[in-house]
Amino acid sequence: MIITLDGPAGAGKSTAARALAARLGWCYMDTGAMYRAVTLVALERAIPLDDAPGLATLAESLAITFRDGRVLVGERDVSVEIRTPAVTAATRPVADAPPVREVMKRLQRRIAEGIDVVTEGRDQGSVVFPHAELKVFLTASPEERARRRHREESARGGGTPLEEILEAQNRRDDGDRTRSVGAMKAADDAVLVETDGLSHDEVVERLVQLVEERRRPLTA
Ligand code: C5P
Repeated sequence: MIITLDGPAGAGKSTAARALAARLGWCYMDTGAMYRAVTLVALERAIPLDDAPGLATLAESLAITFRDGRVLVGERDVSVEIRTPAVTAATRPVADAPPVREVMKRLQRRIAEGIDVVTEGRDQGSVVFPHAELKVFLTASPEERARRRHREESARGGGTPLEEILEAQNRRDDGDRTRSVGAMKAADDAVLVETDGLSHDEVVERLVQLVEERRRPLTA
């Protein structure tokens, strides 16, 4: 069975997807991490970020896998390096390149073949897994998402003002929504889950409930 979890940055997707997969005992596929891994290696090999065919060839050549919650390229654990601000910024043009998205779509489908998986990203329900048994679009208001990020940053000692976080987030949302291929979009048959005012546990409970509803007709 495939469950897709899409939505904007800061909606709590990763935490929810990870927790849901753990609850079900299923695999968790973090597709943002896959784009980040390609970007990390592209930066290391000095492949220009506007060289779409070069980036696609690179993506094709990399063995990106997930093991015990870690992201691997071959045998190399890149889980920490893919989260640096430099990689985050450079991931945008890489994820915007249609040939790269095509390679990633094939790889994501290959990884999900024959297993139960919770897959998380922007285009999983709308493009990559149009026949997924359950599609969820997880979101929260821009203000709520910016407040959460602000709290996290402040806890880490960061001093970015809330307004600045909100502006940067709006820019990222626009970029995600308007890319020519693989734009962030709720699939027509996705269930919308709005997380404003819900605790982490409440979000996971809601997702588990949706899974149970989908499974019931199969087991009845
Ligand atoms: O979710 P995360 O922040 O790790 O995503 C990293 C980058 O990859 C973002 O720029 C996001 O827009 C992009 N992405 C994408 N398609 C996906 C998952 C992430 O374009 N399925």
